[in-house]
Amino acid sequence: MSFVIGIDVGTSGTKIVALNEDGKVVAAVTKNYDLNSPKPGWAEQNPLDWKRAVFEGLSEICKKINGREVRSIGLTGQMHGSVFLDAEGEVLYPAILWCDQRTAKQCEKISEIVGEEKLIQMVSNPALTGFTAPKILWLRDEEPEIYKKVKCVLLPKDYIRYELTGEFATDVADASGTLLFDVKNRCWHRELLNLLEIPIDWLPKAYEGPEITGKIKPSIAEQLHLSTDTVVVAGGGDQAAGGIGCGVVHSGIISASLGTSGVVFAFSEHVHTDPKGRVHTFCHSAPGAWHVMGVMLSAGGSLQWFRNKLCQEEIAKSKETGVDPYEYITEAAGKIPPGSNGLIFLPYLTGERTPHKDPYARSAFIGLSLMHGKAEMARAVLEGVAFGMRDSIEIMKDMGIPIKEVRISGGGARSSLWRQIMADICKVPMVVINVDEGPAFGAALLASISAGMFSSLSEACEKIIRELYRVEPNQQNVEEYDFYYQEYKSAYLSLAPTFRRIGKKIEG
Ligand code: XUL
Repeated sequence: MSFVIGIDVGTSGTKIVALNEDGKVVAAVTKNYDLNSPKPGWAEQNPLDWKRAVFEGLSEICKKINGREVRSIGLTGQMHGSVFLDAEGEVLYPAILWCDQRTAKQCEKISEIVGEEKLIQMVSNPALTGFTAPKILWLRDEEPEIYKKVKCVLLPKDYIRYELTGEFATDVADASGTLLFDVKNRCWHRELLNLLEIPIDWLPKAYEGPEITGKIKPSIAEQLHLSTDTVVVAGGGDQAAGGIGCGVVHSGIISASLGTSGVVFAFSEHVHTDPKGRVHTFCHSAPGAWHVMGVMLSAGGSLQWFRNKLCQEEIAKSKETGVDPYEYITEAAGKIPPGSNGLIFLPYLTGERTPHKDPYARSAFIGLSLMHGKAEMARAVLEGVAFGMRDSIEIMKDMGIPIKEVRISGGGARSSLWRQIMADICKVPMVVINVDEGPAFGAALLASISAGMFSSLSEACEKIIRELYRVEPNQQNVEEYDFYYQEYKSAYLSLAPTFRRIGKKIEG
């Protein structure tokens, strides 16, 4: 028996899955860690926490299956994060994460140096606070002594690759999210690197997703009871790998994932760029293909905030009953009619990317009255996130991207109420498939090609992924939500200047 492994270095934890030759998940393990926010809008992690999680997780997985029979490992993880290493390969500074908003000034500077339109022509995307390039400039501006020692900048999963194999490498999908990558030609953008004065030799070699980037170090193979022949493939950023794991390998299929962030992800045979830069255009992990995606920063994150800050009662009850607190929250929300009795939630707790590119955007409950309680607020959160996902779908429709079905995934997709709300608000059927292991599964599929289990990603997806059922939009709700969606959109436009003034005041 041969196995392949997928490792997802996520934001709340690292998930590792092992697949057998039929593509069936035979072992899975998750190891959690913390996210630190030393200042408002900052989000950091210690790369050594990821390393610990990966090593502990891998050693548990290798006890569940025969580690010596693992042929190939695929890596995926949270995108855009910056890991700064010195000449000895030591971590110099906490990793600045995808949801960190400290780089507004550096984004303005990049747009100024290059020109907004020119930047989109060069790297297919605008300067956004979460991307990697502005983080490098931030370190140069704010921590010059540390910056002087930098010899290499890696993305989160690529730091793990370095620890496992000793190789500096990345993949084209994750590299696309640095803002330093020529997405059209699938290589680093030399001209832009020159303009921003970032040395190209700080960046690792970029490979296509299923390509082999190296072998596991012999000492690590011994420690984890893996074979010294185990290869590590390039893998992909978590969204591209998640897309592969949902079978988004052909035009017409799109996926919507409700994780901490909310992502609408579409396959594209060509480089398809929104001239306004509202959605991202990145290389796909499927060789020779691209993807377009809209990213909301707080999707499941909004409901998690609601649970943590406002649902102590439900949390306490769940400790007694063992029922997940989200079940109590969505049960109450399900008793409220669509439109939450006139209450709208703007899901911009950590600023926004799609469609607003606004680090100063913040959340709001709009229309609160004496009649509203926690149940209406909960439903408004679910609806507000779905309105945000619809924003991405509308932009993709405007760009002429075909949308035949949406495959829904992520923690939020486990709620039948949220799935129905998504179908009603986005006005497309939401399809539930037979695998819900997320990006880790996609990374394992990327590894399965080098292990000779499948001849192509399309073949792997066709053999493994099946539709379980679909949730059709309810026409009556669709009309109700059309009204609230327009109000949702205009509420942000009215409030944006207020958010900005308040944000600037807090920044000092
Ligand atoms: C994608 C993005 C997030 C992170 C975290 O552009 O920023 O989805 O990858 O998962």
